[in-house]
Amino acid sequence: MKFKTIEWKGDHIRLLDQRKLPQEIRYLDCRDSSSVAEAIRSMAIRGAPAIGVAAAMGIALAANKIQTCRSEDFRKSVNHVCNQMRATRPTAVNLFWAIDRMKRILAQVHSCGIDETRTNLEKEAIRIYKEDIGVNRKIGENGKILIHNGETVLTHCNAGGLATAGYGTALGVIQAAWAEGKRFRVLVDETRPLLQGARLTAWELVQQKIPTMILTDNMAGCLMKKGEINLVLVGADRIARNGDTANKIGTYSLAVLSRWHHLPFYVAAPTSTIDIALIKGKDIPIEERGPEEVTHFRGKQVTPKGVKVFNPAFDVTPHFLIQGIITEKGIIRKPFHKNLRKIFAIPNFKEA
Ligand code: MRU
Repeated sequence: MKFKTIEWKGDHIRLLDQRKLPQEIRYLDCRDSSSVAEAIRSMAIRGAPAIGVAAAMGIALAANKIQTCRSEDFRKSVNHVCNQMRATRPTAVNLFWAIDRMKRILAQVHSCGIDETRTNLEKEAIRIYKEDIGVNRKIGENGKILIHNGETVLTHCNAGGLATAGYGTALGVIQAAWAEGKRFRVLVDETRPLLQGARLTAWELVQQKIPTMILTDNMAGCLMKKGEINLVLVGADRIARNGDTANKIGTYSLAVLSRWHHLPFYVAAPTSTIDIALIKGKDIPIEERGPEEVTHFRGKQVTPKGVKVFNPAFDVTPHFLIQGIITEKGIIRKPFHKNLRKIFAIPNFKEA
């Protein structure tokens, strides 16, 4: 089954509601920016690139509906929506990257006028969407050499078409290798507490008939020890300029285990996930989500009432545990602080 994670429909945005997958294939039509912001916050749409696209489309949608003929009022109203989007989730930098792109278009309202700015905002949101699919395909092409026939790849969370405008980053690499005729299997961490691996990644891979097996989050070490894993491939939510990488909670543990077992650990991400302004991963804001995601399972409490819960959505893997970062511009290798600088053409920034 082919699916569309997000679609621009002119007067509304259609999202595949990921909270219901894989049991229910239900679409959510967002007709205003507040419902888009709520969809991001509640993770009806999730994954770093996908929330960037959703925010951009939400801003364009709002811009089309704002009624004023004063360009300063228009700028202020759209800016308010940008701030609303910024407040949805703190970790994935693609969100802020996409909003900043929209704000650069908005800044031209005084010279372009309101009508042209509305059109340009819509075009920019659609461009962000289309670019993301193209970038993911390039990531796939660049990364597919890392997977060999007969191997086993382990992935965590969901870095597939559902987490992006389409095709995926880590799953893009897996798909590109598979499309080339390589035959291998994929192990998918279930990814507690929201099960993005078991529900979403497995759903995507099974549709593509790629051999898939789900693991609970505590199994990887045992399988690595038995020699049953050859490569670990994950996505990213924000990469600092020294290569430290924030991704779904549990990623750091996998990286440590990979190092212990001498396994290659790769991150696949578009350059829009690289926060070149950020020196080190310790400065990445880590989202903490509500306790009910842990205490409850499908609406039913599974823990003692009143027990304390710690529920960070992400962790940070230090750069020295990462073999390479697969981007649309090629595989970036160590030293990351130098090679990322080249990609962004930034001379002489202070090293971490
Ligand atoms: O909390 P989520 O589901 O938005 O977290 C998603 C991840 O951690 C993904 O691995 C990451 O965004 C990469 S998506 C291509």
